[in-house]
Amino acid sequence: MQFPAEPFRIKVVETLRPTTREERVKWLEAAGYNLFKVPAESIYIDLLTDSGTSAMSDKQWAALMVGDESYAGSRSFYRFESVIRDLFGYKHVIPTHQGRMAENLLFGAVVTPGDVVPNNIHFDTTRANAEQAGAKAVDLVVPEGLDPQHRGLFKGNMDVGRLDRVLDENQGRVPIVMLTITNNSGGGQPVSMANARATAEVCRRHGVPLFFDACRFAENSWFIQQREEGQANKSVKQIAQEMFALGDGCTMSAKKDGLVNIGGFVAMNDGALAERITHRLILVEGFSTYGGLAGRDLEAIAQGLTEVLDEHYLRFRIGQVRQICEALTDAGVPIIQPPGGHAVYLDAKAIAPHIPPAAFPGQAIAITLYRDYGIRGVEIGSLMFGSEDPVTGAPIAPPLELVRLAIPRRVYTEAQLAYVARSVIEVHRNAGRLKGLRITHGAPFLRHFTASLEELPAGVPAVPVGR
Ligand SMILES: Cc1ncc(COP(=O)(O)O)c(C=O)c1O
Repeated sequence: MQFPAEPFRIKVVETLRPTTREERVKWLEAAGYNLFKVPAESIYIDLLTDSGTSAMSDKQWAALMVGDESYAGSRSFYRFESVIRDLFGYKHVIPTHQGRMAENLLFGAVVTPGDVVPNNIHFDTTRANAEQAGAKAVDLVVPEGLDPQHRGLFKGNMDVGRLDRVLDENQGRVPIVMLTITNNSGGGQPVSMANARATAEVCRRHGVPLFFDACRFAENSWFIQQREEGQANKSVKQIAQEMFALGDGCTMSAKKDGLVNIGGFVAMNDGALAERITHRLILVEGFSTYGGLAGRDLEAIAQGLTEVLDEHYLRFRIGQVRQICEALTDAGVPIIQPPGGHAVYLDAKAIAPHIPPAAFPGQAIAITLYRDYGIRGVEIGSLMFGSEDPVTGAPIAPPLELVRLAIPRRVYTEAQLAYVARSVIEVHRNAGRLKGLRITHGAPFLRHFTASLEELPAGVPAVPVGR
């Protein structure tokens, strides 16, 4: 395996305590086969999420020390604001404690019940916040974005024709269009500059503002520079600036490309909208110059947003993900193609065809990776998104059964990720031994966080929830 060389050296280390399979078997049973409930200390390589799990740099840690904790008018806010204005280009910058609060404030200010909010694909908190404000959230990604084996270069693109039709059919009922870069729920796939421009043009024609969900904007800009015709000679920063100039604002969880462990913001050009959001911000988050964060957090985000544009870093970062994907593909492990920006997605249906969706093939793989190898990923399939027919109680499966292995930024070394690749290859080789699971205790919503499960003996058919 040829991983890209790390463009940093390690100054601080966090000790990992090796655990045995026997210990992990016990933790797994105590956690009801739910990996959200095992102690993080029992994990060797934690690929649950890339959100809030980045390693901060020496300069970010140093920035914490100069944080200005003044309640109002903090110097740290002005630094945060000026970095974001320079990069994103929007006039009004409102800090929030993380991305979902930015979404909550934005949708709370623009949505009227009965509205429609289009996106390429809404991330789950984006969908939940739009719907909680009374809108119908619609996903309009291009068809190849839903085909795991399609090798398209910009599978996160908006289907601009469908967007145009949705805007035509819902005149006066679409307060905002969102574009998620990269498209997390579709495999971390990028959106091209041409597609963002076409999306912006349709929005302008219909008089509807365009907002970016900008969590992974630097990774998206890197893909544009590497893959899109006519973009190779621009810097990643120029590409990001050009893309944001097409829109009217953005929400961002800084826990991704802000390279920090907490934080976010919403930014926009519309002053009246910024004022409405600020009033609500003061009620639920804090004053407009800290918005639920400490002054030091604002400093760390400002520094992180500068570092994330370093092209040596991005080559390394995207290269790590690509390298694992290539190793898995060479070994015949079915994954979402092509590799996206922040995670590897295993195609659980293809790996474990003997386990029906109702018996959670993705969870079977995730459990085995933890129990046998100390690696934590997350099931994104019937456990997370499955539902039941309200009349018959029959399980309804989502289109894909996946296991996501999200790669934290600047955290794991080449040897550790090579270990991940070897472990997944072994699980695939022995996939016939994977056992399905059934839910023994569920929750009414977001059940994957809290449900308890048990393994089914090999060959036993799936039993729907609660039956
Ligand atoms: C595309 C996207 N939007 C929004 C969010 C929400 O951000 P946060 O977790 O900071 O609330 C996430 C988090 O994973 C995301 O991936």
